Amino acid sequence: MKPDGTWTGRAPGRVNLIGEHVDYLGGKVLPCAIDRFTTSTGAPAAEWEVISPVPDGLRFVRAVGERLDAPPQRVRIESSVPPSAGVSSSAALLVSVAAGLRPELSGVAAALACQAAEQAARGVLVGVMDQFAAALGRAGHALLLDCGTLEYRYVPFPPTVLIAVIESGVQRDLADTPYNSRRREAESGLPKRIRHVESELRRVDAFVAALERGDLPALGRLLEESHASLRDDFEVSTPEIDALVERASAHRGCLGARIMGAGFGGSVLALVEAGREGGLESAVGRPVLFCQTADGAYVS
Ligand code: GLA
Repeated sequence: MKPDGTWTGRAPGRVNLIGEHVDYLGGKVLPCAIDRFTTSTGAPAAEWEVISPVPDGLRFVRAVGERLDAPPQRVRIESSVPPSAGVSSSAALLVSVAAGLRPELSGVAAALACQAAEQAARGVLVGVMDQFAAALGRAGHALLLDCGTLEYRYVPFPPTVLIAVIESGVQRDLADTPYNSRRREAESGLPKRIRHVESELRRVDAFVAALERGDLPALGRLLEESHASLRDDFEVSTPEIDALVERASAHRGCLGARIMGAGFGGSVLALVEAGREGGLESAVGRPVLFCQTADGAYVS
């Protein structure tokens, strides 16, 4: 922050490699921060004011500002994180504001404040994965986070694998989805939901082991299994998304694909061997965002 009180913060979006709908149950997740960023610049003002391409920018910025005990600010937001595409534009926004207003915080404290702000602003009981990835992801790595203890470590991500995010075009606001009811069903032990959670947690461990031994085909198989479990047991996929996953998986060079993030629309994650990505976009018939891993806002 400059002496006149002006500040700038920047934070990335994220993909989640594996570990879906387990963060709010204290499970392990494996996201990466990606090279799409939101930048917020601000200065103290008489009341909260936001100039933003992000829908509901004011609600989010005010929620995180208040959570961090900041006085009202006038904030301008610029972003290359596509909204409603399942790459967590909201976490990028919240963490960029936190990093600008409170750069001295630990990344863990910032992520927790942003999670609480997101829950308050949206009325959705999100877990901590997205905010953690935006704060503490690291270039060249995936972030293995235990959402129960908040312990984390970095797992090298192979430079020969491309991260492709396929936008379904089915936009949704999490508040209008059954996210909260899925969470309640899992917490209350509904057998189908628990079957997903238990199998997904085993897949996270297997995925980390496959990354560590460089077993690319195993990564792909685990993505396919995760998709089937999210579709059949957790029931967060849609027919459009299932079709995209099938088309992406059939593309030569694609190791595997699955629905990513909360679900109910949003996007598909595909891992593709570098150099063999040509034609993926026309094969799936949707825009594809090729991403690199990046540093989170609290990593230098
Ligand atoms: C959203 C939430 C996360 C997580 C995922 C599902 O992205 O913000 O906390 O629950 O859905 O894995």
